[in-house]
Amino acid sequence: MKYDWKDAGEEWSAPWGTSSAQWFGAILPRIRDYLPTETILEIAPGFGRWTHYLKDYCRELWIVDRVDECIEACRQRFAVYSHVHCYVNDGRSLPMIPDDSIDFAFSFDSLVHTKGEVVELYLRELGTKLKIGGKGFIHHSNFGEYANSLRERIPRALAKPLIKAKIFDWAHHRSPDMTAELFRVLSAKHGLHCLSQEIVNWRGRRLIDCFSIFTRSAAPEPGPTRIIRNRNFMREAAKIRAKS
Ligand SMILES: C[S@@+](CC[C@H](N)C(=O)[O-])C[C@H]1O[C@@H](n2cnc3c(N)ncnc32)[C@H](O)[C@@H]1O
Repeated sequence: MKYDWKDAGEEWSAPWGTSSAQWFGAILPRIRDYLPTETILEIAPGFGRWTHYLKDYCRELWIVDRVDECIEACRQRFAVYSHVHCYVNDGRSLPMIPDDSIDFAFSFDSLVHTKGEVVELYLRELGTKLKIGGKGFIHHSNFGEYANSLRERIPRALAKPLIKAKIFDWAHHRSPDMTAELFRVLSAKHGLHCLSQEIVNWRGRRLIDCFSIFTRSAAPEPGPTRIIRNRNFMREAAKIRAKS
């Protein structure tokens, strides 16, 4: 079914109050060490909920989404910003991006539903498109940690009322074949190194999502990944909402 973009994705920011509150309260604090910078690539921007902010932190911003409607909306929304370059892709590759050109790659609230093989294809691309020393911040699924649990084997008809009663939480269509650990392995396979991973709950209790920060490093033996398991991500959202 075609998504109705009438609110341009603003509706997904409800737990934080607004997209502005979510950007300044939840996203920017996690990436501010890498901004501002020369060149940013945003993968899967939708209608530009985060593009709107990213454009102010760089000289060139490339945005790539597989859906024409999204890129057309972004072209119109950001038409006056000549440094914002908008492209439709095939949902897996980045031929429009020159090698060694990106300082910071970003994707939020998009690649969580994406199969592991597609996440790997993007990591392979970033292994050549990032500058040496360039960084990436990608929000992806960690639902693979739970995909084979007893909870997931309960028939849907039985689970549904328990989800409604908030006894169980929902998987939010997270990809079952991606985990934080696999993301680290795939990054390393393509010349990237995860500097940190924050594994978070998303609208429920289970830690089904992950924010991975990685670099294209020339170092032969990069240091260990700092891994945080943050069960309070949605409590933080509620606090941000209360202040917004
Ligand atoms: C839920 S929307 C989120 C958009 C934006 N990141 C935001 O937070 O408002 C997901 C977006 O990801 C795009 N998308 C999903 N899979 C993709 C892929 N493999 N490659 C490029 N874009 C993709 C969709 O077209 C859609 O625009």
